[in-house]
Amino acid sequence: MSEQAAVEAPAGVRSSGPDEPDEAASGHERAPAGRIRPAARLRGELRLPGDKSISHRALLMAALAEGESRIAGAGDGADVRSTAAVIEAVGATVERAREDVRTVDYVVVSPGADGLREPEDVLDCGNSGTSLRLATGVLAGLPLTAVLTGDGSLRQRPVARIIEPLRSMGAVLHARRHDSLPPVTVVGRTPLRAIEAWTPVPSAQVKSAILLAGLRADGRTTVREAVATRDHTERMLRARGVPVERAVVEGPSGPGVAWSLEGMTYVQAVSEQVPGDVSAAAFWLVAAAIHPDAELTLRNVGINPTRRAVIDHLRRMGARIDELPGRPDDGVGEPTADLVARSSVLEAIDLGPADVAAAIDEIPILCLAATQARGTTVIRGAGELRHKESDRLAGIAAGLAALGADVDARGDGIRISGRTRLRGAVADSLGDHRLAMAFAVGGLIARGETVVLRPDSATISYPGFFDELDRVSV
Ligand code: S3P
Repeated sequence: MSEQAAVEAPAGVRSSGPDEPDEAASGHERAPAGRIRPAARLRGELRLPGDKSISHRALLMAALAEGESRIAGAGDGADVRSTAAVIEAVGATVERAREDVRTVDYVVVSPGADGLREPEDVLDCGNSGTSLRLATGVLAGLPLTAVLTGDGSLRQRPVARIIEPLRSMGAVLHARRHDSLPPVTVVGRTPLRAIEAWTPVPSAQVKSAILLAGLRADGRTTVREAVATRDHTERMLRARGVPVERAVVEGPSGPGVAWSLEGMTYVQAVSEQVPGDVSAAAFWLVAAAIHPDAELTLRNVGINPTRRAVIDHLRRMGARIDELPGRPDDGVGEPTADLVARSSVLEAIDLGPADVAAAIDEIPILCLAATQARGTTVIRGAGELRHKESDRLAGIAAGLAALGADVDARGDGIRISGRTRLRGAVADSLGDHRLAMAFAVGGLIARGETVVLRPDSATISYPGFFDELDRVSV
């Protein structure tokens, strides 16, 4: 069993994979989670897991804030659970007040940053890069020693990008392989030194780690990014009483964005409603667009301008997506909308590095869309995908090629020519949740049966995904 599959599957998620007995063969009506048959029609209304990025941040900020924080509708995938366990280990109490298959309402009570304690054991971040990198930023500003690690995938993901700036702030950090790979040891201190930093790669995780450490620094910390990445940390700090300033600055290759905050500012405890995860919505947007008879309604999706690029990229390809406004954007909270997606005629698209950064988690499912678009889709500047939960450029290319797509991944780019009639085959998710879900969506339009290897990895971000796939396949 893969390490992801070893994660406790929340109720309602079938854990059977292709290596296990075939339920269909035993007379059960529904195929096991990893086996997908073409759907005649796609219809239905979906509620998504709470946004994963926002859920991690809400938990970490709840730990920094003294008193009671309420987080309604957090995503209940294994990654967010890892962050919940991390904050418990440093002295916050975490109650799961209500839960369904996809979401959980947390009530967190914390002594606040000054009252958090040294963890007694190694902090296990599971498969979650966001847990490890953001928590390291928080811990760097606390007078304690902690060791953070994770599963086999996370232990292959780069950490020098956070170690270098946090060291220059005065924390002591070490990691395996010349400080490049987890486990990470952090010996934090208060106060840290405020710094002005450029993020070495477009990364909201690096930016957030520095800003969270900057809360515990003497003076003003500024993070500059050449390519804008998701701004949840900045919005959520503002909502918790921390002034965070934004400025447009000249970067090494054109204009960039600078984010600044004053250190030793206290984070207030608040109640927050987490919107539906647009990265989870992306699977249904593409499913509807590529299927000849589809209409899917997605309720309460987060459409933050720094996260919604997948919607706009798909629209540029010709996808019919209607947006019914929900919560408006006030620059502090998170804007939302209901989305209605329908069968579409797609055209190829060219995506460059800024387009990729804006849809970094949605590139695999966009690649599936490209197999059904007329012309050749070219995606450049996507090298960061090689450092995600798997090498996603290689993984998506291998899986789509197995399904019969015309795809070529080289260096930091990928090229896909369409339209191709996909055929059912075995597609290996490599234990990567986003690949598992992308191949499963491909199975909805492929001829014959598609078998997704290691399907349980979907529970990392989307518990209940395969049940939903089954429900909307009419
Ligand atoms: C995330 C940022 C992205 C993304 C990840 C979540 C975040 O990573 O891929 O799934 O919540 O900040 P990078 O910022 O490292 O690209």
